[in-house]
Amino acid sequence: MKRAVYPGSFDPVTYGHLDVIRRASEIFDVLVISVLNNKTKTPLFSVEERVKILKEATKDIPNIQVDSFSGLLIHYAAENHIHVAVRGLRAITDFEYELQIAQTNRKLSDGRLDTMFLTTSLEYAYLSSSSVKEIASFGGDISQCVPDFVAELIYEKYRVGARE
Ligand code: PNS
Repeated sequence: MKRAVYPGSFDPVTYGHLDVIRRASEIFDVLVISVLNNKTKTPLFSVEERVKILKEATKDIPNIQVDSFSGLLIHYAAENHIHVAVRGLRAITDFEYELQIAQTNRKLSDGRLDTMFLTTSLEYAYLSSSSVKEIASFGGDISQCVPDFVAELIYEKYRVGARE
């Protein structure tokens, strides 16, 4: 059984992530999407909310599991007997950052965790969770960026924020 992990913040999941998820799910027997619980950041959605959103957004793909992790990816991967991490590459600007993480993980894990990159489909190459949040925070249209139910949840966060 070939299993891989797709780690990330997914705050929120975008069509770019979902494109990588769908394509990786066709390569591996099981794809574990794991949300990083990063205590140094203040996310828009809690880890629990992001896990729930990812489960809903991927409910039609049978070989997906959604989970979360804290700490180092190499420790999480080892605990779960996973040897491949999947990441999406949108543009050359992602490359340096991703290369550094991939090489660090390979070195720290003594070669037990490798990284496989999927190049994001061109139609999603411009997408990022940060820009989706910025557009939504000013009431812009994010219907091309995230599924409708995710867009609603994002707008709701900013509506609640504005009332507080
Ligand atoms: O969606 P993101 O925020 O670009 O994902 C980054 C992520 C989660 C893949 C990366 O930050 C990560 O794996 N963090 C866990 C901590 C870790 O293992 N760091 C070592 C690599 S430098």
